[in-house]
Amino acid sequence: MQIAGSSALVTGGAGGLGEATVRRLVADGARVVIADLADEKAEKLVADLGGAAVYHRTNVTDDDSVAGAVAAAVALAPLRVAVNAHGGMTAAMRVLNKDGSPMPQALFDKTVSLYLSGTFNVLRQSAAAMAAQEPLESGVRGVVINTASIAAYEGQVGQSDYSAAKAGVVGLGLVAARDLSAVGVRVMTIAPGTFFTPAFRMEEEAAQEMWGKTVPFPKRMGRADEYAALVSTIVANDYLNGETIRIDGAQRFGLK
Ligand SMILES: NC(=O)c1ccc[n+]([C@@H]2O[C@H](COP(=O)([O-])OP(=O)(O)OC[C@H]3O[C@@H](n4cnc5c(N)ncnc54)[C@H](O)[C@@H]3O)[C@@H](O)[C@H]2O)c1
Repeated sequence: MQIAGSSALVTGGAGGLGEATVRRLVADGARVVIADLADEKAEKLVADLGGAAVYHRTNVTDDDSVAGAVAAAVALAPLRVAVNAHGGMTAAMRVLNKDGSPMPQALFDKTVSLYLSGTFNVLRQSAAAMAAQEPLESGVRGVVINTASIAAYEGQVGQSDYSAAKAGVVGLGLVAARDLSAVGVRVMTIAPGTFFTPAFRMEEEAAQEMWGKTVPFPKRMGRADEYAALVSTIVANDYLNGETIRIDGAQRFGLK
């Protein structure tokens, strides 16, 4: 799919993976809505991109907020691409604490709400907007790209909420692709390993020291532009649909 002349929506567009995606989609010719809550970072990115992107303050867990972001994208040009890249770091907590008390249910619900329900919210509302548009000559109306994690498969200790939410995102992909096949909307999922982003809340050198050595090859953390390059490939290749692609340098999470 060629996206020059189309619009795209990127949740978490002011974050690490999101910003790289916004930059890449702009370079590919799209006009992009940055759907995030980080006002300052988003405004800076908009200024940097000189009119190719706009910021729409968006909370993915809020219906009206997402509707506003989708409308902002449609107002720019036909919406062909929606990328779910919102989130950040979650608090690690075991199912049972050392004192035997259980992890608060509210924490689990909050994580699932942000990562899984928020992703579905953007998927369903973007798909509705795409379905209302004329298809391209290929029959494709658009593509939704969700972000899972390798923790969907190998959750580490303390990641029950995050792993369950991300496994939900993986599970959602094929069903959504099947549901949306009738309207020519593809759905793909990316499961990243460890990519250096602000979510790690530490200097890059320290993060590389901690995580880089756990990756077989290349022996370093992923770069956000490598994630964005995969987004661009998925957009371009219409035969990619209903699948999750791991991008992780062969990393497999161990126990911790
Ligand atoms: N960085 C990694 O190693 C890695 C690995 C696997 C999966 N992921 C996933 O990729 C996604 C992006 O991660 P990142 O590392 O770029 O994080 P990040 O913290 O750099 O960026 C996340 C962005 O999401 C925004 N955000 C948070 N809550 C939001 C909400 N309710 N509505 C809209 N925006 C919201 C934040 O403001 C931030 O700009 C997350 O879903 C994360 O789980 C990241």
